[in-house]
Amino acid sequence: MRYGYFDDDRREYVITRPDTPLPWINYLGSEDYFGIISNTAGGYSFYRDARLRRLTRYRYNNAPLDLGGRYLYLRDDETGEFWSPSWQPTGGALDAYECRHGMGYTTIASLRAGIRAETTYVVPLGETLEVWRTRLTNERAEAASLSLFGTIEWCLWDANDDATNFQRNWSIGEVLVEDGVIYHTTEYRERRDHFGFFACSGPSAGFDTSRDAFLGAYRGWDRPLAVERGATTGSVAHGWQPIGAHQVRVRLQPGETREVVFVLGYGENPREAKFHPPGSGHLDTRRVRPVIRRYLDGTVVEEALVALRRRWDEQLGSLQVATGNEHLDRMVNTWNAYQNMVTFNLSRSASLFESGVGRGMGFRDSNQDLLGFVHMVPERARQRILDIAGTQLATGGAWHQYQPLTKRGNDAVGSGFNDDPAWLVLAVDAYLRETGELAILDEPVPYDTTPGTEQPLSDHVRRALDYTVERLGPHGLPLIGRADWNDCLNLNCFSDTPGESFQTTQNREGGVAESVFIAGLFVLAANAWAAIEERRGETAAAARYRSAATDMVAAVERHGWDGAWFRRAYDFFGEPVGSAANDEGQIFIEPQGICVLAGIGLEDGRARRALDSVRERLATPHGIVLQQPAYSGYRLNLGEISSYPPGYKENGGIFCHTNPWVMIAEALAGNAAGALDYYLRINPSAREGISDVHRCEPYVYAQMIAGPDAPTHGEAKNSWLTGTAAWNYVAATQWLVGVRPELDGLGIDPHLPDGWREVHVTRRFRGTEYRIAVHPGTGRVKRLTVDGVPVEGNVVPLPGESGTVVEVEAFREAPAEAVP
Ligand code: GLC
Ligand code: GLC
Repeated sequence: MRYGYFDDDRREYVITRPDTPLPWINYLGSEDYFGIISNTAGGYSFYRDARLRRLTRYRYNNAPLDLGGRYLYLRDDETGEFWSPSWQPTGGALDAYECRHGMGYTTIASLRAGIRAETTYVVPLGETLEVWRTRLTNERAEAASLSLFGTIEWCLWDANDDATNFQRNWSIGEVLVEDGVIYHTTEYRERRDHFGFFACSGPSAGFDTSRDAFLGAYRGWDRPLAVERGATTGSVAHGWQPIGAHQVRVRLQPGETREVVFVLGYGENPREAKFHPPGSGHLDTRRVRPVIRRYLDGTVVEEALVALRRRWDEQLGSLQVATGNEHLDRMVNTWNAYQNMVTFNLSRSASLFESGVGRGMGFRDSNQDLLGFVHMVPERARQRILDIAGTQLATGGAWHQYQPLTKRGNDAVGSGFNDDPAWLVLAVDAYLRETGELAILDEPVPYDTTPGTEQPLSDHVRRALDYTVERLGPHGLPLIGRADWNDCLNLNCFSDTPGESFQTTQNREGGVAESVFIAGLFVLAANAWAAIEERRGETAAAARYRSAATDMVAAVERHGWDGAWFRRAYDFFGEPVGSAANDEGQIFIEPQGICVLAGIGLEDGRARRALDSVRERLATPHGIVLQQPAYSGYRLNLGEISSYPPGYKENGGIFCHTNPWVMIAEALAGNAAGALDYYLRINPSAREGISDVHRCEPYVYAQMIAGPDAPTHGEAKNSWLTGTAAWNYVAATQWLVGVRPELDGLGIDPHLPDGWREVHVTRRFRGTEYRIAVHPGTGRVKRLTVDGVPVEGNVVPLPGESGTVVEVEAFREAPAEAVP
């Protein structure tokens, strides 16, 4: 069953009933100010850091799940009837409802009692504020007297404290109301120079800033006393829970429309000029007032929306495809690319599943996210690479996470996840293939954010690879350390204490746990890097990494092959994991994907054999599960993976991040139809029709879909902030559609089933626009014409000058007519 539909032309997902299985969210903001917003206007906002600069409050794990938001109330001042035009929090029946989640904005429209309300929520480019533009239309035959209330709950202190530290926070809340603007000034009197503001275009009929005064005793947001009465009280909060509530009275003639604008934002003053008059302790509002005034004007809001649309068109315009498959097209052209940008902005910080107070930027996560956005924002990707590399340790290893505000490694999480460094190599490789800018390799970058330790970026990459080579186990395979890509395969952890963190607890010394996954990843990374060293004329280094890769392939062939698939690892005691010899966890997806991706087994038939094993043992209609059989009980020598109930997360769940590795592997092994089939199994748009089973948003990937061992097989969790986004995008664009940046030009090598219709692709690449047509036929692309001139092979050479348009036609081995 569906809860909406895709409006592809407008790049919107349109939700047509408010009671979606879970809150279906969207993101506002793309620079410094961000918010999450659900289809019923739930969510919160923050400036840069969802923990330290949280603006508004959200109650996680509440009932209903989604409580705390940008709530409006409409009241018929003649009858006293009131409702929320976004359905929540009052929850009463609406005569019509529609939520449009678009690129960086959301519009919620509804009709009740003859009053149409349409509110667009947006963060204008370049500003640290959000605007809610509400349009009220009277569809009745007679005039209507209405009150509109706009409300938020402040949370402008450490959001973690907000949920825990009441003995302090319930005493320190302060506000200032000046010229109808509500300022949140808690702690401003002392060491902070920032504050929040909430304004309304009016005409104001009153306000409240004390939650108790507005809601009334023992009431919730579903029936505030002030709304019920039709009058705010003008309360000024002292401690407890400061809020912002504005009341506007509107009289509408039949057919009349009126616009009311609310502006919520974050402001900062220079430390030496924060009070006015100086020394008064009174917030100086003079700098922020003009900005607020500007955005209270509806025409300015309209301009901001147009500018935002233009920005997205431009960004998404770097790659557009027309393959004839609507699910592939709309994910690649709009939603998958959009999700990639959200992971760029938010990493793993704030979603319905990530609280905003938890994780910093993951080293491996951020490097992989980059694969999905480097072509849209190459300059920002460049900076991201330098930031990440700057946290790398001098050993070549990595802090597992770093904090975005300080850009320092997070010692609370530590290091020793031995796959981490290799992902940096893939990120650098992706950047270089996209931009060709070899000069980035000469950029001086510190180790561990320590001034004075700067070395060229190329040195960081080399150390990242050497880190693996210097840590091999008895089978010549990489030692796993705390864990590899699978954070939950904890082979050295041996945790038997309830509640202990698998990620950070002291590991047991002296074991020999090795990872076949890291071996495959290393081969992939080392060969990619060797090609770059060759371009730089560093032939000795290139040869060194090529030969390290060759040795690693040999180790995998000798000790990583189980007979019908690649093994996963060797445990602390040197026993195989992911082998037919195991009673559970016999076969894992990760090494099948990554080893084939690295080219291992493509020539001797092992790749095909491994992928057949995946199909027989791991593939389900909802995607490919992580391993089988799932672990039925906890195993001390395996750790967190066996802590999850069978079918969830890393224990036999469909961990969507891994599926594209198998898609790419199938493509490399020559099975294009199989690759596409796997792609469509987890493609959110293709799953839209089973939204009641899938439950998460049908427009973005989720980290996990419950596997067949789970009672809820097919149910997704943890949507939005996941490496699944980048990898599926890579699989779809670079392997299925097959437009892949190479160091020397743009590769055109689609892996689409035989007989596939004509495919069109527009790709902006190194300043040139490529318009590519792939003609129908069978087999691989064998021949290109570039502006009508035949070219051998399948890489379009770089044109002499940028800024041009290049027409490419690609012909497969046999033309369509030859298909029997
Ligand atoms: C989570 C982590 C990621 C890890 C994956 C598998 O998505 O963010 O780093 O690779 O889980 O455990
Ligand atoms: C848990 C999750 C895993 C995630 C890790 C990050 O182990 O199962 O997916 O990578 O936490 O801290």
